[in-house]
Amino acid sequence: MQLQPDRRSFMAGAFSSAAVLGGCRPAGAAAPTAAYGCAVRADMLDRDRAYAAAVASRCRTVVPESALKWLDLRPSPDRFDFANADRIAAFAARHGLGLRGHTLAWYGAMPAWTEAVTARAEAQRLLTDHIETVVSRYRGLIGSWDVVNEPIPDQPASRDDLRPFAWSRALGLDYISLAFRAAAAADPAARLVLNEYDLEYLGERYAARRAGLLHVLRRLVDGGVPIHAVGLQAHLMPDRPLDRDGLQTFLREVRAMGLNVMVTELDVVDATLPGDVAQRDARVAASAQAFLTLVAEVSPPTDILTWGISDRYTWVPMYFTRSDGLPNRPLPLDADMNPKPLMAVIERFTRASP
Ligand code: XIL
Repeated sequence: MQLQPDRRSFMAGAFSSAAVLGGCRPAGAAAPTAAYGCAVRADMLDRDRAYAAAVASRCRTVVPESALKWLDLRPSPDRFDFANADRIAAFAARHGLGLRGHTLAWYGAMPAWTEAVTARAEAQRLLTDHIETVVSRYRGLIGSWDVVNEPIPDQPASRDDLRPFAWSRALGLDYISLAFRAAAAADPAARLVLNEYDLEYLGERYAARRAGLLHVLRRLVDGGVPIHAVGLQAHLMPDRPLDRDGLQTFLREVRAMGLNVMVTELDVVDATLPGDVAQRDARVAASAQAFLTLVAEVSPPTDILTWGISDRYTWVPMYFTRSDGLPNRPLPLDADMNPKPLMAVIERFTRASP
């Protein structure tokens, strides 16, 4: 793939992102501060100048919101469609931004044709070929990958429970080690991340999800599988109580395994907050402040990315609409690209822009 823009400046951005990701820092060393980034949409970067300018001026890293998922990349077994991912990579290169990859294995965006995959050997071949093809294409451009996303069921029945989908049905836990090993072989310099949600709050379900994820991580690390960090998606629910002990114990265990911590999809689901904008924005900011403080006390995140940058484009209303019909306000910029209190909170935890 020949990227049009100045690849040198982009490579600098990508490597600086890799450095920030802890590539050059032993586990346990406190990260000076995180690099801020956000998930982006290829079509809107091309069509919406204000949005593109906000991303370019405020972010050090971008990650395709959907363009690197199986559903977007693999319309059929014999085809790859890189058009949108290449557009985002070109945007990052043009603006000297680092680039993240999301995601090489996720139950949530699988093309229908993969449902027919049941045999072990076929699953191994398809998953390995996919990862080799996609990761090599962006070798040296993508500084870190969410290799596997959301491997733990929403409500795990035990710590061995894995989310059922094509790869886990055919390969069990082996799909995770296969994915990480294939990604490391395709780009030895990329930082490899296991990404998960709903790890932050008090309650049996959250505790079970933390236990399940730790169990997977221990088996990967004990098996010598190349993995570098855990991604906390951090889709925060401000009306739920944070589990300080549960979350910090989890993070200490992650650090003890020599893994870094990233915040990968931060937004604050404001569906149950007051309608008043000033009150709601303040609660959103306070929710992020409380969460990021708990994380940073144990493991300062190497990166903090929000899942979008502006309320103009957010996934939140897909699942969490407000009963009063008001638009959600989950992100650091409002729909007019003006910074909200949440932006100030993020700036407290992230390095000033270069
Ligand atoms: C979401 C996107 O934001 C939506 O546009 C898409 O329709 C579905 O996926 N956790 C993840 C992300 O890891 O990949 C999801 O992204 C949001 C939840």
